[in-house]
Amino acid sequence: QTPTSAKTDPYVLLAPHLEQMRTSLLTLLGSSHPSLNAIAQYYFLHPSKQLRPLLVLLFARATNGLGAEFSQVNWAADNARAHQQELDAPLTRKDILCDWNPSMPDHTASFQSAFELRIPPAQPPPYTPQPPPLHQTHSQTLTHTLLPTQLRLAQIVEMIHVASLLHDDVLDKSPLRRGAPSAPAAFGNKLAVLGGDFLLGRASAALSRLGSHEVVELIASVIANLVEGEILQMKGSGTEAAPHPSSSATSAIDLKDIHASPSPLPSDKWAIYLKKTYLKTASLMAKGARAAVVLGGCREGEVWKEVAYAYGRNLGIAFQLIDDTLDFSSSTAQLGKPGFADLRLGLATGPALYAAEEFPELEAMIERRFGKDGDVERALTLISSSNGVERTRELARVHAEKAREVLTLLPRSEARDALEALTEGVVKRRW
Ligand code: FPP
Ligand code: MG
Ligand code: MG
Repeated sequence: QTPTSAKTDPYVLLAPHLEQMRTSLLTLLGSSHPSLNAIAQYYFLHPSKQLRPLLVLLFARATNGLGAEFSQVNWAADNARAHQQELDAPLTRKDILCDWNPSMPDHTASFQSAFELRIPPAQPPPYTPQPPPLHQTHSQTLTHTLLPTQLRLAQIVEMIHVASLLHDDVLDKSPLRRGAPSAPAAFGNKLAVLGGDFLLGRASAALSRLGSHEVVELIASVIANLVEGEILQMKGSGTEAAPHPSSSATSAIDLKDIHASPSPLPSDKWAIYLKKTYLKTASLMAKGARAAVVLGGCREGEVWKEVAYAYGRNLGIAFQLIDDTLDFSSSTAQLGKPGFADLRLGLATGPALYAAEEFPELEAMIERRFGKDGDVERALTLISSSNGVERTRELARVHAEKAREVLTLLPRSEARDALEALTEGVVKRRW
């Protein structure tokens, strides 16, 4: 039984924002060289789930107004500051458009449209904060508001995600992504790596302009986590898990319970697998959602940041577990990328780890990373006659259920309903 009955489609709720964000992102990624433009924009031109921006924007809408510092007055001040930063043309033109070179074309017009989200007036009027009328409640007013900084954060997390895909497709030698030739297949490895680096550069500049050290630290640590996850996947264990940001929160809600893992770990291999899953996938969702709440004015000691983190962490783990099952059960056409990729890369994901409990001969194959002739084919046969895929789906459902439980700590709103629908969608998806 789900805690809310009326479901709100997250894509419908945020459709105008998502479209505007995508268009403005393409402009934001313009560079001084056509090859760099082409590679940096490439993955944004193909359809994607936009799960990470959705998560950021829905948490922003679900929690704006709840934090002690999110009075209408502070909200107005934050907005005014953000406008000012973005309108700081001399700084941003120099940073983004490299117009130190007088022979370069003037990109001012396209630069302006990169910030269309704000629709700033030519001369921002002096800010006069308007407190909300007393009779208006939180749900009537502030939850429908998205701060410019939160919209920008949604773009930043998508840029970081796409940067990691550009690098991932080089590392995995993947020929396909989003139903088209992968970036390394289309442009070569060197440009794909440089394109990812360029996205990280643009994302970092935009991140610093959000004006929050806490958010910069959170998102910077995600970039490190992505690399840590990739290394853990490549080399196996060796280090302790990166801790999530601690909280000195005091609240009626038991934070230990919010953060408790819903899944017991049957072995070291499972511990490493789930840690890697957090680092490479869930960290961006958890910390991205948390950062959205920080930008909304929640401070240390308030529970909303913990809710966002715990939700994103569990949703992210559920998402990756489902991804790992789809590698076995969906077609290349459905996925838009090659199936059975993990075994071929030597990786034992949930289905293989569960299948090894039924067929112990898999253990040696996992140990040698399916490296002997015939290993991949034999492992595929064993895994498909085991309950590995179904058990991994079940584990994903456990994490999704935990995410949904955490959501009940938020006051009811359209955005909370949409988050609930999103949770369900992540587990049911086929691509
Ligand atoms: C996709 O996983 C890849 C990731 C989730 C993260 C990859 C991270 C890096 C390559 C580290 C470098 C990071 C940055 C920010 C530049 P997958 O290969 O399991 O999934 P796929 O089937 O979609 O390729
Ligand atoms: Mg990979
Ligand atoms: Mg890959």
